[in-house]
Order: sequence, then structure tokens, then C-alpha cells
Amino acid sequence: MEKTLIQLEHIHKSYGKQTIIEDLSLEVRDGEFLTLLGPSGCGKTTLLRMINGFETPDKGEVLLDGVNQVAIQPNKREVNTVFQSYALFPHLTVRENIEFSLKMKKVDKNEIKERVDEVLELTNLEALASRKPGKLSGGQQQRVAIARSLVNKPKVLLLDEPLGALDLKLRKQMQIELKKMQRRLGITYVYVTHDQEEALTISDRIVVLNKGNIEQIGEPFEIYHSPKTEFVASFLGESNFFEGKYENGVFHYGDAKIPVEANGTKDANLLSVRPEYININLGKTEENALEAMVTEVTYLGQTNRIELKLKDGKKVYALSEIEELEKGKKVFLTFHSKECTLLKKQEQ
Ligand SMILES: Nc1ncnc2c1ncn2[C@@H]1O[C@H](COP(=O)(O)OP(=O)(O)OP(=O)(O)O)[C@@H](O)[C@H]1O
Ligand SMILES: [Mg+2]
Repeated sequence: MEKTLIQLEHIHKSYGKQTIIEDLSLEVRDGEFLTLLGPSGCGKTTLLRMINGFETPDKGEVLLDGVNQVAIQPNKREVNTVFQSYALFPHLTVRENIEFSLKMKKVDKNEIKERVDEVLELTNLEALASRKPGKLSGGQQQRVAIARSLVNKPKVLLLDEPLGALDLKLRKQMQIELKKMQRRLGITYVYVTHDQEEALTISDRIVVLNKGNIEQIGEPFEIYHSPKTEFVASFLGESNFFEGKYENGVFHYGDAKIPVEANGTKDANLLSVRPEYININLGKTEENALEAMVTEVTYLGQTNRIELKLKDGKKVYALSEIEELEKGKKVFLTFHSKECTLLKKQEQ
């Protein structure tokens, strides 16, 4: 599992005068589900295209299993790509779509049948093998697109927002299926999404990208609970940010002293606290509690999302199950000291 399969080394890429990626290095481990997560335009697709060979880096190297890929044609690389638009052949059946590339490569007839049967089973498409794409649902079409890639037995499967066109429910089902399939196959997946929840659910590791730079690489839990930058804290989930200064276990925000157990950088000027780590108290139970007023209550089912305003006018979001909270109520906020993250403010 720890073996490195793909190495991107000091990659630079510009389009005209616009620098998209500047000195990016990244290692993908053999057999892992790695997700590239970042906002639209940050360079996710560009990175994938340098791995599959549709784009060449201006500087830097792409290695697969230690072999430099730059001179290798896209169709000769042991990499397959699944795109958001599946581009299935409408006049061919599911089976014919899947076997197409093997026929082009003149693979032996019996082997084709064997390999196609295998992926049909794996992707749960056996019953649909003789249908044409027009008579399949979006999720089924997506499975055919994946099957068509898997039949080539790639070392790496690149998936560029493959679930983007599906509705939320189907998307969630497909996330679980994709993950299961990947575990069974042991193929390395490099998956692109700008959906943070999807990234947290599906990945072994997440690479958070911002304007072509890696902000942080880590397991989902680590990225969510120990964001290293303001960008990561705000891009993954919701967070409250307080500007101030950290000193010896205390974050000074205005006159308030917020006790924190150092998690992050000691020369912090920004404190990040997720809504679920703010306690709302009806009385002033602690000297350090921040006084606030409830400005909005939204029912989320199991819990309520509470919008509050501090005395200085700052808006804060918290989650709470307390029933007495209503608009205009005065409350006191305390934070889970272990779940606060100390950060340096970033230029936006
Ligand atoms: N062929 C091209 N020529 C010129 N500029 C390009 C080209 N391809 C991409 N770009 C630019 O490079 C930047 C990164 O694009 P890229 O497609 O990698 O973003 P992305 O992260 O995949 O975004 P999205 O989530 O919207 O798909 C964008 O500013 C885009 O306009
Ligand atoms: Mg893209």
C-alpha cells in the first residue's frame, strides 16, 4: 500500500501568459483512492490531463511506476480516464460499448468475452448488457463508462467529476459503489471533485488544491479536523473565524480570552471553530464565555443551526438542540478547546 505509483515532480503549466500550476509535486500510492479537491478553475482537470498524457507539462516530470511518461502517447499509458460526460456510443449496446477498445486492439475473441463478462459482473450490468445507452438511467450510463475503462485493466483510473450529472440520491449511491469497486479491484483511483462532502466520504487521502497549489494533503479526518490553512478550513465544511492573537493557551479576541489547546500554529492570528464545537449556554457558566444574541434558528431535523451575533456585530454559526433558543435571546458561547484550530490569516 505504501508503494508510490505516480510521481508528479515539480510540475509547471501555463496557458499563454496564465500560470495554472507552479512547481507542484505529488505522490500517489499504489492502490489508494486519492481525491483532488478544489474550486472550479483551480487546475484539477489540467493535472489529470498531464497524468493521462493529453497535456504536457512545461517543466517537471510525470512518472508511473518509476517510468517517465512524458514521451509516451496517451493511448500507450497504463492509465484510463472516466469523464463527466460519458460519451458512450449511442448505436452500440452496453456490451459492444465495453468491448470496443479491446476489438480495436485486436484482442483475441475469447479473451474479449471473458474480460467483458468479468467487468459486467463487477459493475452490476449483466442484466443490461444488450441495451443501448439511450435506454439507461444516468447512473447506469456512468457504470458503463467505468466498465469501459476497467476492461483495459489500467494501473490507474482517473475520474474527472464522474458523478457530476447525477442527482443527489443517485450520487450518494454511486459514491459507495465506486468505493466498493475500487477496494475489490485494488486499482489506484485519482478522483476529481469540487464537492467537499463527496471527497470526505470517498477518499483514502484528499489533496486540497487552490489556484494550482497544494494547500494540504491528508486523510479525510485529518483534513477536516486539523486544517492547516484558512482556505482548507473554509473550503471543507463551515467554520467560524476569529481574528486576534494567540498566547500561552489563550486566544485573545478583542477583550475576550478564549482557552484553546494548541492545535495548529503558535504564532496564530486566526482561530477557526466549526459550528459543532461551539456550546450555547443559557447562563454565564464560565468567565470566558462570549455573550451573543440569537438572530436566526433553522431546523435541520436532528439539530438546529443557530445564527448568532456577538456584541461587536460579528456573526457566528453554531449547532444546538436546546429548544429555548429563539430569535432575540441572549446566550453565552463557549468553545471546545481541543477542537479549535490556530491558523495564520491568508491573503485571499
Ligand atoms: N486548453 C486551455 N487553454 C487555455 N486555458 C485553459 C485550458 N484548459 C484550462 N484552462 C484554464 O486553466 C485553468 C484551470 O482549468 P481546469 O480545467 O484544470 O480547472 P478545474 O479545476 O478542472 O475546474 P472545474 O472544477 O471547473 O472543472 C482555468 O483557468 C482554465 O480556464
Ligand atoms: Mg475540471
